[in-house]
Amino acid sequence: MKNKGLLLLFTFISLSAFPQKFEGLAETPPMGWNSWNTFATDINEQLVKDVADKFVELGLKDAGYEYIVLDDGWMAMERDENGDLVPHPEKFPNGMKAVADYVHSKGLKFGLYGDAGTKTCAGYPGNRGYEYQDAKKYAEWGIDFLKYDWCSTGKQNAEASYITMRDALYDAGRPVVLSICEWGDNEPWTWAEDVGHMWRVTGDIINCWDCEVGHGSWSSWGIWPIINMRGNIRKAAGPGHWNDYDMMEVGNGLTDAENRSHFAMWSILASPLIMGNDLRTASKETIKTLANKEVVAVNQDKLGLPGLRFSNEEDFEIWVKPLADGEWAMAFVNMAEEPRNLDFDWNRHQIGDDLNNRRLDVKNKKYKIRDLYNHKEIGDTGNNLKATIGSHDVLMVRLRE
Ligand code: GAL
Repeated sequence: MKNKGLLLLFTFISLSAFPQKFEGLAETPPMGWNSWNTFATDINEQLVKDVADKFVELGLKDAGYEYIVLDDGWMAMERDENGDLVPHPEKFPNGMKAVADYVHSKGLKFGLYGDAGTKTCAGYPGNRGYEYQDAKKYAEWGIDFLKYDWCSTGKQNAEASYITMRDALYDAGRPVVLSICEWGDNEPWTWAEDVGHMWRVTGDIINCWDCEVGHGSWSSWGIWPIINMRGNIRKAAGPGHWNDYDMMEVGNGLTDAENRSHFAMWSILASPLIMGNDLRTASKETIKTLANKEVVAVNQDKLGLPGLRFSNEEDFEIWVKPLADGEWAMAFVNMAEEPRNLDFDWNRHQIGDDLNNRRLDVKNKKYKIRDLYNHKEIGDTGNNLKATIGSHDVLMVRLRE
């Protein structure tokens, strides 16, 4: 009895004395929507409400999307006389608590954007020197997610700066997903496991299949440059801490085929699935892709192992992801400008994940193959997998015994 009391006391002291990351918030990659890709700083209360309504109406909430996150531009240009952050008075005339309350009333969660430096990337007040004060404000408003950017940080140390905000959030007492956004510059995959729940791995995404767009001192990157930019980072991710390949461009001008491939890849990579399109005007096909529960299930698989490239020979990018219970997901993406025929002989390929010591054992087992975009069984590994795949389209399958 006495020992139990001591143990409890010790646990209490250590939990309160050593700030840490909130655990258990992102056991699978976070799913949601962020305003930046489509709206930049042109955001307001009505937009958030519309998006929350659309989450429910379009079946996105039902598919697993949860967070609605306002990116840069939600603040007034100056802090108030107490040094507090102030929501932009015209964009958010009823304050942030009212917005958070609306989102919560739909059974969803709400997020905001901040910046570890003195100013955000769009020139609004940064959090530097105000971390504890701001974290308390976020808690007061009911914030569940913080995207924390890296502009105007001078010579600041990234790890230390993100730890400061982690500790401030913990101290404020309201569980918040901390989304680290320093573009991979300081290799967060080597230090952020106990700091944040996800970390951006590259500079900003842009809505093209395979391009780089320069902006003077920095570039934004299309879908494939983002996928290819970082080498060996898959081992860093897992339940609670994810490689973030950036907010998705699904529905932002790519073809329907490219949208399917983009979504398949973010699922295979176990990236957070953060939509970045205008849900009020999204096409049926776009929503069908984003709300595809069978593809989402690959992303949300409880093992939490990011996939790996199996091959990029000739015109196909072939990626595999080990899933729980010995199942596998695979994506065959046609990179060519014309349709291509796939003829995949299971016996000629050794599919496995050496890092995690997992193997697709087609010699001794026959796996059933399910097409996750067409929602049907398409045979088993006893025969070659044959399909015609359109330009930039994907065949995404799940293999189970
Ligand atoms: C960038 C960030 C973008 C967006 C933007 C806002 O640094 O990578 O995702 O948040 O700032 O100004």
